[in-house]
Amino acid sequence: MKLSDFGFTDGINEVIGITIGEWINTAPLGIIVENPESTFAKLRIYPSHTRENLKKGTLYVNIVHDPLVFTISAFDDLSEDWFESSDPPIINGALAWCQFKANLKNCWVDLELSRGEVLRKGLRAVNRGFNALIEALVHATRLKQNPKLIEKVRYYAEIVEKCGGRREKEALEVMWSYLRKLYPHLSL
Ligand SMILES: Cc1cc2nc3c(=O)[nH]c(=O)nc-3n(C[C@H](O)[C@H](O)[C@H](O)COP(=O)(O)O)c2cc1C
Repeated sequence: MKLSDFGFTDGINEVIGITIGEWINTAPLGIIVENPESTFAKLRIYPSHTRENLKKGTLYVNIVHDPLVFTISAFDDLSEDWFESSDPPIINGALAWCQFKANLKNCWVDLELSRGEVLRKGLRAVNRGFNALIEALVHATRLKQNPKLIEKVRYYAEIVEKCGGRREKEALEVMWSYLRKLYPHLSL
């Protein structure tokens, strides 16, 4: 069993990280892979519920292509009805799930793949709207540290409008509604 069996490639792999605390916590995470033919990876982690839960030593990951799942998980947690299984946690329509042993060291986490399963095939062409939504979300989740990033959020949002499908555009609206609530003074 190796990372590439579950779709990981070298570089940063954007996935949904799932951790178990008082509730099932979901957050988009960038898993850093040097060698996809191995079982080892790492993660840079900022203060969050995910970071707290990782102290217990386990990270679940779902490989997902749904823009709405990325958007809700970036600001909130997915409710129970978004899951097709709770143990292991599997989000509806996920292409694969994996479990990692997680060793938290300050702002880094060493990860070792321990089990997983490929659930579905996910053949699809590249869509700039989906990629741009991911970029918009990355900047949107850092707005608290740097409010100037709103310009980048707007830039990528325009690409989502131009190139995205229905689901990307729906996710974009959901992103804006989270941002309006979080940052009322930005008049978005
Ligand atoms: C595409 C994407 C990738 C992200 N990657 C990371 C990451 O690698 N590490 C991290 O700490 N936060 C990352 N974030 C931010 C977290 O998902 C975000 O802070 C989230 O709100 C944390 O939720 P939690 O408090 O429920 O754990 C990423 C966000 C996005 C949109």
